[in-house]
Amino acid sequence: MTDQAPPVYSGPSRVLSGVQPSGALHLGNYLGALVKFTRLQHEMDTFIFVADMHAITVWQDPKLLASQVREIAAAYLASGLDPKKATIFPQSAVPEHAELAWVFNCVARLGWLDRMTQFKDKAGKHKERESVGLYTYPVLQAADILVYKATHVPVGEDQRQHLELTRDIAAKFNHDFEAPAFFPLPEALTEGPGARIMSLRDGAAKMSKSDPSDNSRLNLLDDADTIAQKVRKARTDPDPLPATLEELKDRPEALNLIGIYAALEGRGPAEVLTEFTGQGFGAFKPKLADLAVARLGPVGAEMRRLMADPAEIDRILADGAQRARAAAAPNLAQVKKIVGYWGS
Ligand code: AMP
Ligand code: TRP
Repeated sequence: MTDQAPPVYSGPSRVLSGVQPSGALHLGNYLGALVKFTRLQHEMDTFIFVADMHAITVWQDPKLLASQVREIAAAYLASGLDPKKATIFPQSAVPEHAELAWVFNCVARLGWLDRMTQFKDKAGKHKERESVGLYTYPVLQAADILVYKATHVPVGEDQRQHLELTRDIAAKFNHDFEAPAFFPLPEALTEGPGARIMSLRDGAAKMSKSDPSDNSRLNLLDDADTIAQKVRKARTDPDPLPATLEELKDRPEALNLIGIYAALEGRGPAEVLTEFTGQGFGAFKPKLADLAVARLGPVGAEMRRLMADPAEIDRILADGAQRARAAAAPNLAQVKKIVGYWGS
């Protein structure tokens, strides 16, 4: 027998990511996701969608859902995504995602899903009361990615496990159906200073849309006064800032604020710390507030301007959906053939 290396995926590089329309977008979404999307659109073919099918895994008011989708689209555009470069669309407008998700429901194993920490976090003690959709959520996520044969997925740290599951599903599909290298094994792009922004009220919890305290996060639609006030109220400690990051190891709130400052300025946290060494938070916080207002203010203002013209957003989304379907359809047709569906 010859020892041949298994074939590897050799298709083009493609970026895909999405955000759920299930609450106000915050600084963590902006730095962990949106800023990266905008950068990557210049490097690779890029698909960015609004994950409305994922959003309904928990209750969403049907009267609000479509406008929440437009709000996420407005945030994409306001952060610099260019609809001529990137394909921007609502997930539910591309039924190929759901069709591939069914096939993947039959590839993924229950044991794999049982390990998903995000489900455990969201379901808490009462998992039998959650929707089945919330449980199979990561399988739909794998379909979102692989229906485009995407190779690179920019996300925050919290999505790493879902990306590992996506790779497992891709590898098992390729293996079971003897279609080696049909799907790529996509890579999570989590690096960067904004990969895990923590709550302003608790340095051990991530900044999250679902945190009941609005003071825990800076929302993209907060006005300048609100941003400044939230930064002022951010939890800290009385000690001055030290010279090295190592000394911030047991001061998670302080480390988080330095990290936010660094990410907003596009500098390394060590460098930022050097600038403020010896100073207390009374001096640091107003500088951070100014920086946050300078960076987030224009994004919020542009979102408001765009949201005043929903028809224009809808035009962009409809055009994106058409392009996305054109990219997804041939891949799904191949999957149907590989699986052996009637008529394929
Ligand atoms: P979600 O708010 O869960 O829909 O997340 C949308 C995107 O933002 C995903 O790529 C997340 O990984 C990212 N994200 C959410 N919260 C944070 C955070 N606190 N820090 C960094 N990235 C985040
Ligand atoms: N699960 C992601 C989140 O909560 C959103 C998402 C859905 C996603 N499908 C995706 C992200 C595909 C990247 C790729 O943030």
